[in-house]
Amino acid sequence: MKVSDIKKVACVGSGVIGYSFAVSFALKKLEVSLYDINQEALDLAKMRVHTSLELLIKNNIISEQEREEIENRIHYTTSMEEAVTGALFIQESGPEHYDVKHEIVKEIEEYADKDAIIASSTSGLLITEIAKVAKYPERFIGGHPYNPPHLIPLIEITKGEKTTEENVQLAKEFYISVGKEPVVLQKEALGFICNRLQMALYREVCELVMRGVCTIEDADKAVTFGPGIRWGIMGPSLVFQLGGGEGGVDGLMNHLHDSITLWLNDMADWKEFPPEFAKIARDGVEEAMKNRPREIGNDDVSLAAYRDDMLVAILKLHNKL
Ligand SMILES: NC(=O)c1ccc[n+]([C@@H]2O[C@H](COP(=O)([O-])OP(=O)(O)OC[C@H]3O[C@@H](n4cnc5c(N)ncnc54)[C@H](O)[C@@H]3O)[C@@H](O)[C@H]2O)c1
Repeated sequence: MKVSDIKKVACVGSGVIGYSFAVSFALKKLEVSLYDINQEALDLAKMRVHTSLELLIKNNIISEQEREEIENRIHYTTSMEEAVTGALFIQESGPEHYDVKHEIVKEIEEYADKDAIIASSTSGLLITEIAKVAKYPERFIGGHPYNPPHLIPLIEITKGEKTTEENVQLAKEFYISVGKEPVVLQKEALGFICNRLQMALYREVCELVMRGVCTIEDADKAVTFGPGIRWGIMGPSLVFQLGGGEGGVDGLMNHLHDSITLWLNDMADWKEFPPEFAKIARDGVEEAMKNRPREIGNDDVSLAAYRDDMLVAILKLHNKL
């Protein structure tokens, strides 16, 4: 199979992630079947598709007419047979439990072409384990998105023990063809790449707040108007390459080595968040919201709208929309 053979994609599970993947694929002119177990879930998905496309119209990414064409490319169904028949790429975004994923795998394989790639959106379950009930485990991969997948380009591709290299490459090429930025993990790692990075940073946010060094609001401000702006442009190693001047990243590591060692020895290395931190974080977020003007979001709804507008602006700069 070649990537160009993939004309139809099935999205199995139409929740927060499934509907958004459907938008992502339909935007790239693929026919999409969006499957869920009941009509209520599909009705909600349809509404979310509409709202997401509205945002793209508001930001001049698509026209009204294109919105209609995109909506017409998404076919909603509660029939697995209808969903996966003829689909050579299947993105599974069902509930995050092995037993449910096993049921879904069996049902997909009952009707799917045996060459179809099956990618699971799982946030942390092992592909080897998900695919253990499969007839053809060699075509199972992890295709882990970040929310919302129709805006965030990253896909972390993971392999199971039986996944073939050929299918990994095919999945990678497919994701690239629909404008994603896939990264293939060479080994299984809990939390993949970015959840580990996010938690490494958030552990230190917790440490600084619990020690009374800064508030939740100031830690957020420090990231947003400091390194976060640079990270939206390039990754930490390229940032350090520039920070090292003529010496580059290795120069920076060598130059600051003794100083960095002092910081590292003082930084958090605990293995579990203190249980009281969840409430401290919540109170800190509520305080921060009070201090924000409405235009940049001061409740969950306006904050999400602001995030999506800013994401669109950044994605345009990256030529990703
Ligand atoms: N939400 C996130 O931020 C996020 C990010 C990355 C990955 N993921 C992963 O994506 C997957 C889906 O998460 P979500 O947040 O969209 O969950 P969700 O609860 O919003 O959606 C799950 C959908 O699956 C449907 N479903 C239930 N049983 C099913 C079955 N047997 N067959 C098909 N569909 C079924 C539900 O009706 C629901 O619509 C999970 O594996 C999750 O770990 C989530």
